[in-house]
Parts: sequence; C-alpha cells; structure tokens
Amino acid sequence: MPNILNRSQKKFCNLPPNKNVRLLAPAGSGKTYSLLWRCKYIVEKAKEKGEPEPFFLLVSFTRAAKLELEYRLKHDDDFAGIHATVRTLNAWGWEQVKSPGKELLTSVSQMRSAINHGLFRVVEKYPRISQSFEKTKGNTSKTWFDLIDLYKSLGFVHTMTKAEYKDHVKYLRELGLIKILEEGYKTIYNLLDVANEDGKTKNESIREFFSFWKDAVERLEAQNYFTLEDQKYWAMLYFKKQLAASKAPQGITRYTHIMIDEFQDINPLDLELIKCAVAYHSNKGKPAALTLIGDDDQAIFGWRGTSPKFILYPEVYFGAPFVTCVLDTNYRSPKGIVDLSSKLLSNNLEREPKEMRSVAKGRATIKVLHSKGQDTSIETTMKLVRKLVKDERYQQVALVGRRHVSLFPYQVLMSAEEMPYYVNADIDIYAGEAMKDYVALLQLKADIKNDKVGDPVEAILTICDKIGKRGLAKNDRRDLEVHMRRVRPTSVGDALKALKTYPDLIKNKSTGAIAATIEQLLRAKTVYQFLDLEEKSLRGLDKDYQKKEIDTHYKEPQFSRLKEISKKYKNDFEAFIRDIERARIAGERSREKSNDDSEKGYKDIVNTKLHLMTATRAKGHEFDAVIVLDADEDEWPSRQTEDIEEERRLFYVALSRAKKYLCFVRTNDKAASPFLKEAGAE
Ligand SMILES: Nc1ncnc2c1ncn2[C@@H]1O[C@H](COP(=O)(O)OP(=O)(O)OP(=O)(O)O)[C@@H](O)[C@H]1O
Ligand SMILES: [Mg+2]
Repeated sequence: MPNILNRSQKKFCNLPPNKNVRLLAPAGSGKTYSLLWRCKYIVEKAKEKGEPEPFFLLVSFTRAAKLELEYRLKHDDDFAGIHATVRTLNAWGWEQVKSPGKELLTSVSQMRSAINHGLFRVVEKYPRISQSFEKTKGNTSKTWFDLIDLYKSLGFVHTMTKAEYKDHVKYLRELGLIKILEEGYKTIYNLLDVANEDGKTKNESIREFFSFWKDAVERLEAQNYFTLEDQKYWAMLYFKKQLAASKAPQGITRYTHIMIDEFQDINPLDLELIKCAVAYHSNKGKPAALTLIGDDDQAIFGWRGTSPKFILYPEVYFGAPFVTCVLDTNYRSPKGIVDLSSKLLSNNLEREPKEMRSVAKGRATIKVLHSKGQDTSIETTMKLVRKLVKDERYQQVALVGRRHVSLFPYQVLMSAEEMPYYVNADIDIYAGEAMKDYVALLQLKADIKNDKVGDPVEAILTICDKIGKRGLAKNDRRDLEVHMRRVRPTSVGDALKALKTYPDLIKNKSTGAIAATIEQLLRAKTVYQFLDLEEKSLRGLDKDYQKKEIDTHYKEPQFSRLKEISKKYKNDFEAFIRDIERARIAGERSREKSNDDSEKGYKDIVNTKLHLMTATRAKGHEFDAVIVLDADEDEWPSRQTEDIEEERRLFYVALSRAKKYLCFVRTNDKAASPFLKEAGAE
C-alpha cells in the first residue's frame, strides 16, 4: 500500500480479501478515499495467489459519488486493472429487472394515470379505499404512492401472511422504525376518513389497507408500473426467486466483493436487497464478501425509514461475522472545524463515540455572519459570496440550507448577477405550478403598468381567482365575465368599474371589498409593495392543500423570501420576472447536469465554483468554503422534527463539508440555532 495512506487506512485496505469488513469512521477521515485502495489490494492479492480476477460491485449513495468513483477508476493509474461496477442501489436494482415497456413513475401525473388505468379493479374490491378515491378524485395519487412505497421501504413484502406482518412490525419496533410506520398509519386514517373513529375501526382500516397494498403491488407490476422503491423491491424478489431455484451468476459475471458506501442510511428494503445480492453472488456456497462503510453520526434519513442500527450491529442483521475498522484522522478539515464537530456530536446520546484528530494543513476560518433581519442577511451573504468567488484560495464554495427555501433568494440574486452556479435540492420550487401562478401575476402587473393588457376582463378575473384561498367557481367566473363584458371595457380600469356594479357576492365577499383589493394592487408602484400586498391579500397563492400534490410548494409557501429581495428591483417588474426566469433555467440546467451520466456532466459540476444545496444533498461532498444558511432557531433544527439527534447530525453533515472556510449566517432578530452554541461557534 502506498505511503500516503495512514496506518489505520492501511490496516483497512490490507484485511484478508475474503473477510466481511465494517469501516466506521467520521466525516473526512478518508472512508470513500480508501475504498479503491482496498479494491487494489484485493486485486493484487488475487494476482499473487493466481486466483481468478476479483469483480467488485461498488454502491454509492448519489449519482455524483458514483461518477467520482468511476472517474478515479478510469483516470487514476493507481487504480488501473480494478474490475468494478459502480452504481447507486436504485440504478443497480433497476438494471436487474428493467425491460422495455416498464414505466418508472416519477411525476404526479404518471401516478394519477397509473391509479386510473392500472389500479381501478383492485380499488373496487375495497369499500373504504374506493370511497376515498371517489371523494378525492385523483388528488391524492401521490400520497397513495408514497404509502405504497413506504411499506416497501420498511421491508414489507406483498406475499406476507398476517402472522408475518405482525412479526415484521415487531422487527421495526426493535429497529426504532415503528414511528415511521405509525406516521404511515396516520396517513391511512386520514385517507380513509377514520381519524376520529374508535381503535377497532382504525385497526380494520389498517388491515384493509394491507390487503389492498398486497393486491396493488402485484397489479402494478403486472401492468408494468414501477416506483423508485420498486427498482430495489423487484430486484430483491428477483434474487430471492433465483436463489430458490438454486441459480447463481456464472464465471466473470459474479461479484466477488460488494462494497457499500454511506451504509448508515440504509432502509430495511435496501438491507434485504443487499443480503439477497450477497447470497446470490456466491461461489460454492461462499457468498460475496461485504464491505460496509459509514458513519452513524451522519445518519440523516431516519424520516425516510433508514436505520443506523444496521451499521452499528452488522453481525445481527447479516448473520455473519464482520471485522471492524476505525479511522480517526481527519484529512478534510483543520482542527477548528473538527473541534466544532466533536463538541456538537457529544450532545447526542445514541452514537458510537469516536476520536477525531485533524491533520489537514492550515488554519480554518470560522465565522458567524450577523445581520439585523432576513433581507439584510441575504445582502450580507451575497457580499461574502462575491468575495469568496473571487478568492483563488477557494476552488469550490457551497451554500448549504436546511431546506430549499433558504437557497431560494440566492438563486435569483446569483442569476441576476450572471454568476454560474449549480443547485442541488430535493425539490425545485422554480419549476413548480405555484411559481407559474406567481410569475403570471407579476407579468400581469407589468402589462398593466405598460398598458399592454390584451384582455382587461381576463386580467381582472385572474386576480379575482387568487383572492381568497380557492379559485373562482366555474359558474361565478362565467357570470362575472358576462357582467363585465357587457360594457365592453377597453382598459383594466373600465373592467374594474364594471366589477363594482356586479350585484352578487364574489367568493362570499362584497364586490366593494374585492375591488378595493384589486385597486390597491393596481396602485402598487414597486415590486416590493406589490408583493407585500400579494402576500396579504392574494391568499390563492398561499396554502392550497388541494394543490399540494402537484407542487410541494403549496404545502408551505415561501414567496416571502422573494419579497425580501424584491426591494432592490424598485419598480422594475420586468427585471424581477427576468431574473426569476433565469433562476428557473439555472435549476433546469442543474437537473440536466445531475442526470448526465457522462464524464462531461461530472466535470461540469466539479468545475463549477458555486454550489447551492440542501444539507441532505451535501453528504459525501467537500468544499473549500461552506456557508451554512439561516443558522437560526427556526431553521436548525427543523420545526417539524421530532428527532433532535437526527437534526444535530444533519448540522454536523453540513459543517463537516468545509475544508478551509466555514461561515454560519445568523439573523439577529431571531434566536440562534441551539446547535451553534453546542458546537461552541457562538
Ligand atoms: N491518507 C490520506 N492522505 C491525504 N489525503 C487524504 C487521505 N485520506 C483521505 N484524504 C482526503 O481527505 C478528504 C476526505 O476523504 P473522504 O471524502 O474519503 O472522507 P469520508 O470519510 O468518506 O468522508 P464523508 O463521511 O464526509 O463521506 C478527501 O479530500 C481525501 O482525498
Ligand atoms: Mg465519503
């Protein structure tokens, strides 16, 4: 092994090739880095002994990590001669089962159509479920599919008997995942409208759902509809079938070694798939050797049903012995940052304690950037970003938010300044329906200002639609339109006058009140004034639970973050719209890049200096400079969480990405995030 590896890394690499190994170590200690060196050692050993060439399945958590490993395998001479498949678990599972005609359901509309075309015969058999479908008319398709997938993630199998179901629930309880199942139960109660019923009715609903689930899983597969969890679920069942028929991969197609990075974020389905794959890739009864790599302190997907117990007790869950290796030297971050991490994590009770020692050269810059309010905080952060982008000491700079909403204004501001950036978030608000409505209103205002409105009646109707929570009812809209058109208005003012004489209520409000709101909006001079009024009076852009399925933004609208940056646009509505559009395009480009499996796609991302991401997406990466956004009490921990330790781990993931420079952004009119104090940063 080369001398660049430290002693514990070498120890890990040089373990006997056929052993199952667990590598449990903190962020930045070179876990991912050591992985290929271990492969190299195994290849060399096989050569020495004249054994057949080893074949590795390397499983990474994200596509970006996969591309990085592939890149190193291809271009780094040290790793020439390693025969490996690098995949995410989903992609690999899908490769086992996909065939032409199988459709992967990723959009809400696909799910709706799968329910209407694929599931109606199944739904018919279940009275409560068909009632629920009738009532919600397809508005709950995504919720249904999320539930169907949740049962799969948690490791339920559609061939389970009632007794097996009960046993599995016990298993989930032991794993600490019962809460996740209970959340699922709550969703079922709401969908089946039994939330206020007695325990017996609720239990019946759960039983009805489970029977439905079993039928639905089978039916959807038969109809060629697949969800993201299905990529792994059906691969797991495929292996089970092969194993039952005593089939095994032949010759060079057999993986001798299966290595999984970020193993702390594995759910029961992932575990089962890996177990089956290991058993399937056996040779003369000897299964493929496993290497599990992870850090229980970075387990951040508990809310999706993953369990760090699998990495903490691999012997229990794989029923096989493991050799454990620990790395304790941090190469990524200088001492200051490692100290913050240690202090922060010492507040978590459920963890394997670890030593952390930094050998990264130089001193870390650690800062807390204070600002008075949210809008000044965004401006101050932008100043810092401009400075860091120019600074040649930093090749990559990341802005990390707890939620996408923290990144939201920066996408517009950076687009406005034509700064290239790559955004990596769980959802893209700019591509959503809510944003389209929002921009359409801004455009309408700009058109009114410029006397460019084609149809004044339609303009007034569009605004009316957004006043109050729901749009205008079809009949009301028609009547109001007929009424206004009677006077043939040629301007928005005329149409508004006509609206004032409408004899009926509009959305249960007097025409006077509606007209007053519209007048105020028309009078607003600046973008800020308009958005301020919009926020107060156009509730149609606000919470709209009917629409939350098509656009998660409707669950918790955050246009206020755009209002905060709108002041600088003064009365230039067009510029504001243009920059929002640029942000949308930048989001689309980022998505294209992240879907690009080619080396060019990977290099494009690596060569981008500015990165915007949510903390969950930051895992496994490193950046010279990291700015943790909104390090305030209301963002870190998330208000919705019940698991403070997981939130703390997420904060750790965020700050442990930094190689040289770490900055926490604070807004002084809010309290600081408790994690800042715990880490000793404030
Ligand atoms: N022995 C070493 N000598 C020099 N640099 C090293 C060594 N080991 C690791 N590194 C560097 O340290 C950094 C962190 O390594 P790596 O990303 O593998 O850590 P990790 O343990 O996988 O972290 P995470 O838990 O965040 O995924 C990388 O830049 C890597 O190149
Ligand atoms: Mg790693």
